[in-house]
Amino acid sequence: MTALQPQTVPVPVLDADLDFLDIVTEWDTTTAFHKWRPSIVVPATFRSANTPRTIVVGNQKGGVGKTITSLELAMAFAARGLRTRLIDADPQKAALTVWLRETCYPEVGPRHTLRDVFFGQATLAQATHPTIYRGLYFIPSDPDLSDVESANSSKVLSPETLLRDALRADTGEWDINLFDLGPNLDKISISALIAAQDLVIAIQDGGLEVEGTGNIITTVNSIKERMNPDLALRAIFFTDFKKDSLHRKIGQEMSKGFPDALIVPARESTNAGWSTLNKRPLRMYAPGDKPCLDYDRAAGLLISTDQKAG
Ligand SMILES: Nc1ncnc2c1ncn2[C@@H]1O[C@H](COP(=O)(O)OP(=O)(O)OP(=O)(O)O)[C@@H](O)[C@H]1O
Ligand SMILES: [Mg+2]
Repeated sequence: MTALQPQTVPVPVLDADLDFLDIVTEWDTTTAFHKWRPSIVVPATFRSANTPRTIVVGNQKGGVGKTITSLELAMAFAARGLRTRLIDADPQKAALTVWLRETCYPEVGPRHTLRDVFFGQATLAQATHPTIYRGLYFIPSDPDLSDVESANSSKVLSPETLLRDALRADTGEWDINLFDLGPNLDKISISALIAAQDLVIAIQDGGLEVEGTGNIITTVNSIKERMNPDLALRAIFFTDFKKDSLHRKIGQEMSKGFPDALIVPARESTNAGWSTLNKRPLRMYAPGDKPCLDYDRAAGLLISTDQKAG
């Protein structure tokens, strides 16, 4: 493959007159269904965070939109001028790495991955690669990342606190570090949760979603108590969101269950699948598409860019 030039493509800023969702403070349960329109819930207690920020996108359930949420949020942050590093922490599929490899980040020299960071063979800086998108950097995964799970402690020292310590020692000036987790709460996921301030959960339809999120919340609460008091659930992205009574009901349950978090319907679009097939972020494949708008607005709510403007 020919080497691509890094950082040549600007991430588009979206037009203000596109079909963005409204922002409300409570999930609407009263409007008649035919008049109801999903909205983003921003609870009265919610405050945008300042950079630098470390965000983890997770859920112990597979196939619920974690990876698309990670990538689209990262693109939205980059579009706002934030220096954003996306980290593929899924050992099993390395889906994000495969997604981005061919089209989005250049083949230059030997490539360190997150595995090398865990095995002490590279620093975070050495495993960080530019993408072709301005402001977006990437740490790839590796099928051998799962070795972290089985390695004995002489090979991987303190995996649980490794990412936290590596980020503290990191030299780059990052506004955002954003981890895409795999569906298992393995050592890598725990390590990312100990390093992070913000947890973002992705869910997809299904009556068990509310219970399912309970699992990750239990883990997060124990991490919060023991290792990382700064960790907080900041947002729930309801991906592939359809305007039907089931989605409306689950949105209501989520809003009730997590009253301090953003509730973001990321509306359904066939372009979500097409963009993956074409190995492009949705924001580049279909920039005015509904889920792209939903991720963009949510990114603006999660992180304040006022300090940048000043
Ligand atoms: N807004 C959307 N509209 C339509 N389909 C969507 C939308 N968001 C996500 N999807 C689809 O949901 C599926 C799962 O997405 P994704 O791979 O991001 O999930 P995941 O949680 O990362 O999965 P895994 O646990 O396997 O890592 C994909 O097929 C994706 O195209
Ligand atoms: Mg994934």
